[in-house]
Amino acid sequence: MEIDRRFFLLGSAVAAHAFQSEKPVNTAMIGTGNRGSFLLEGVLRQPNAKVLALCDIKPDRLDKAATAAAKDNPATYADWRRVIERKDVDAVFIATPPYLHSEMAIQAIQAGKHVYCEKPVGVTAAQVRALLDAAKGSKKVFVAGQQLRSQKQLAETVRKIREGAIGEVIMVKAQRHAVADLDHDGTSGDWYFDVTKSGGYLIEQSVHNLDLCNWAIGSHPLRACGFGAIVFYKNDPPGRTIFDCGSITYDYPNAVKMSFTQNVFHPASMPNGNQYVYVYGTKGAVDLMTANMYPPGRGSQPVLLAPKQQEDQFAHIAAFYDSIVHGTPPPVDVKGGATAALTAILGHDAMVQETVVKWSDFGVDL
Ligand SMILES: NC(=O)c1ccc[n+]([C@@H]2O[C@H](COP(=O)([O-])OP(=O)(O)OC[C@H]3O[C@@H](n4cnc5c(N)ncnc54)[C@H](O)[C@@H]3O)[C@@H](O)[C@H]2O)c1
Repeated sequence: MEIDRRFFLLGSAVAAHAFQSEKPVNTAMIGTGNRGSFLLEGVLRQPNAKVLALCDIKPDRLDKAATAAAKDNPATYADWRRVIERKDVDAVFIATPPYLHSEMAIQAIQAGKHVYCEKPVGVTAAQVRALLDAAKGSKKVFVAGQQLRSQKQLAETVRKIREGAIGEVIMVKAQRHAVADLDHDGTSGDWYFDVTKSGGYLIEQSVHNLDLCNWAIGSHPLRACGFGAIVFYKNDPPGRTIFDCGSITYDYPNAVKMSFTQNVFHPASMPNGNQYVYVYGTKGAVDLMTANMYPPGRGSQPVLLAPKQQEDQFAHIAAFYDSIVHGTPPPVDVKGGATAALTAILGHDAMVQETVVKWSDFGVDL
């Protein structure tokens, strides 16, 4: 009798769960530009998602998105507040310029929505603090758009580092170099080169790389110092306020040091270009992007820590819906998004102030 009862209960639980997953997650997309349209493509592939609303202030982008999502027949809006007001919207994607993220995410959280917010979650410490405060006590899912956290090979490599594959992590050297600036006449040209809107190169783009460094080290920095400047694209585009190069040193707990450089004039034919994260430990070093581990000293051969895997470019989006429907932990939540943004803001502030800036001065409670 007892066994039957257990099976009965198990059966009801499965049935209840199946019912729950059949109910679509009504989704709204705010910002349907470059990233927003990529996210929309991913959302449309999710079995649990239905696109109810699309929002953008640029009518051409809104039209394009509405065409892409025609199967769900979404309503279109120019005013993001009208979207968040809709009671039937369960989940909101935010892919607007960075300076708008925090305000939009806060409103969405307060309206009881699940939120997928593109990186960086804020461009100032005050914005990030306000977001963390708003998210306190929220039972809804929050995912920050740091999709590298959903890459299987990277995750396995970091896990191996955590398990001691290179002993204790003692230093990281990382860079994000680009061959050229973002297109000055491109569609993001109206916000990208204004530091108050994008936060600058370090906050807007290197936030991904800095998140990887934190992930590998297993904590966030305590302080930073550094220098940045506009040396190559002087007043180009006119009125530009974001640095085109910078060099920052971060100091982590246990005296772990991290050295990070960025520039947007690294010739494509020159070696060591683009992006890398080298993690040094007491028993060897890892090139995070290739997962190769190099034993210490001379003459040793690299060892692959994690095999290359078939990666799903929409895995991060799928993880968001999994968290909503099945309650699985999100790959990077509001604290993870805040930590990455604050790491970038720390480095940015150090470059602007040309002094040592401390994490503790942010007054955040993570
Ligand atoms: N995770 C990633 O790898 C990745 C890649 C690219 C961009 N991004 C992020 O996505 C965000 C958007 O970048 P993008 O390249 O798509 O820029 P974009 O300029 O192509 O798109 C931004 C869109 O937001 C719209 N917008 C601006 N203000 C708005 C408002 N008040 N209400 C509604 N819509 C508004 C613009 O009209 C535009 O269509 C940025 O935060 C960027 O960092 C993330």
